[in-house]
Amino acid sequence: VSVIAVEGDPFVLRDGVRVVAAGGTTSVTTATLVAERIGRATGFPVAVVQEPDHGRSAVVLRLAERGEVGVPDDLPDELAAEAYRLEVRADRVDVVATSGVGLVRGAVTFDQLATVHNDTFRWLPCTVVDHPRFAWRGLTVDVARSFLDLDALRQVLDVMLLYKLSVLHLHLTDDQGWRLQLAARPELAARSGATAVEGGLTGTYSRQDWDELVAFAAVRGITVVPEVDVPGHVNAALHAVPALNPSGRPAPEYSGVEVGFSALDPGLPETSRFLRDVFGELASMTSGPWVHVGGDEVQTLDADAYRALVRAAADRVRAGGKHVVAWQEAATALAGPDVVLQYWDQRSGRDEMVAAAAAGARVVLSPAPHAYLDMKYDADSRLGLEWAGHIGLRDAYDWEPLDVLPVPAAQVAGVGAAVWSETVRGVGDLFWLLLPRLAAVAEVAWSAPERRSWESFAARLPVHGRWWVGDGLPWFAAPGVAWEPADGS
Ligand code: ACM
Repeated sequence: VSVIAVEGDPFVLRDGVRVVAAGGTTSVTTATLVAERIGRATGFPVAVVQEPDHGRSAVVLRLAERGEVGVPDDLPDELAAEAYRLEVRADRVDVVATSGVGLVRGAVTFDQLATVHNDTFRWLPCTVVDHPRFAWRGLTVDVARSFLDLDALRQVLDVMLLYKLSVLHLHLTDDQGWRLQLAARPELAARSGATAVEGGLTGTYSRQDWDELVAFAAVRGITVVPEVDVPGHVNAALHAVPALNPSGRPAPEYSGVEVGFSALDPGLPETSRFLRDVFGELASMTSGPWVHVGGDEVQTLDADAYRALVRAAADRVRAGGKHVVAWQEAATALAGPDVVLQYWDQRSGRDEMVAAAAAGARVVLSPAPHAYLDMKYDADSRLGLEWAGHIGLRDAYDWEPLDVLPVPAAQVAGVGAAVWSETVRGVGDLFWLLLPRLAAVAEVAWSAPERRSWESFAARLPVHGRWWVGDGLPWFAAPGVAWEPADGS
């Protein structure tokens, strides 16, 4: 939002630098993360201390009231929680925020402002006051068609941290696979965790994996939103649970890339037991406020059956104390202030979305021609699909969320990038599709239109290529940016 250069000497990182957690236990978590990151980047051991410290070479993290942070009075609380003030002076750095998440956001900006000069890390003195434009700054990752293990997701979360994203939405089930072990329904992961799209990776998350993932995300100010997609995209469930099929026999496994052919059967008693068990347990293992019920691309149910099944899933989520997220198709079935609808397909559903927003639903904007980062960059891309066109870096950057749908700004929860895994075989492929485009969508989600431009973004991006190389992340040297030589592929 605002960065002001200040006169004076730079802050220089020296041996003996300390991160001071001056905000109680909330800030200790962030301080530890910051110390680890500085230590990894610089090779210095960095101590975390809790006592008030006014010595030299300290990075001080502190909680404060809104006024001290510099948050505008009319800023909604959900945005103020992520606001921060960063003051870099010659002898110390202060990060001030109203919450732990705000401290995380400020600490990342501090990281990003580092410059290397004669083998020392230094920061030019400045004051930054910042807050996001939207609270929901998401990334949807399809781990159903091709699996990503916990280590891969940790890498994804560290990149999301860098871009101040706030929601990791995991698409855990689809026709090709079921990735989450559920105590109430062990057969789902046991059978359909071993299947994937043709050539894709198989695997599942245990309950312990899940809890570790959620905790790793929380330290980074990221909420995990699990999705079990119903009533379509369910072949993996039909493969694992014979009683979900009218024949009583398991559906064959599916490794193709067609969509829309599978659906739950509203007439079978097992269907409601399945929804109860799956969404009940999913809600109970979710620490964040949201569970995603899918709802997209059903071609084999009539409208009444579709609505009944989506509502049945949503009722289980609500009974578990969570808010419901669903793809845009569910706008015909769900409304109300506890519903978030994710808009992806601009070819349809616009009027239904507008009506649902008028009835209180909030909206996450994932317009495929800008935000579906599994589209090819151009005709020569070695990975990706093309149904929504090619998405060059500028396509991912140059769009205005509030122009996507005619809904009131207050109903827009935010923006979500998405990456589907038909062509992804592991985390390297994933990053090649995400980087640099995820940085573009992240800036669309964080910054107001009057404070960003393609020219400025393109000029700021080359150093990111150096970071990705340093972190060993594959990326695509998209045209339009003066990347440093010998970088991406
Ligand atoms: C979707 O891309 N089917 C949500």
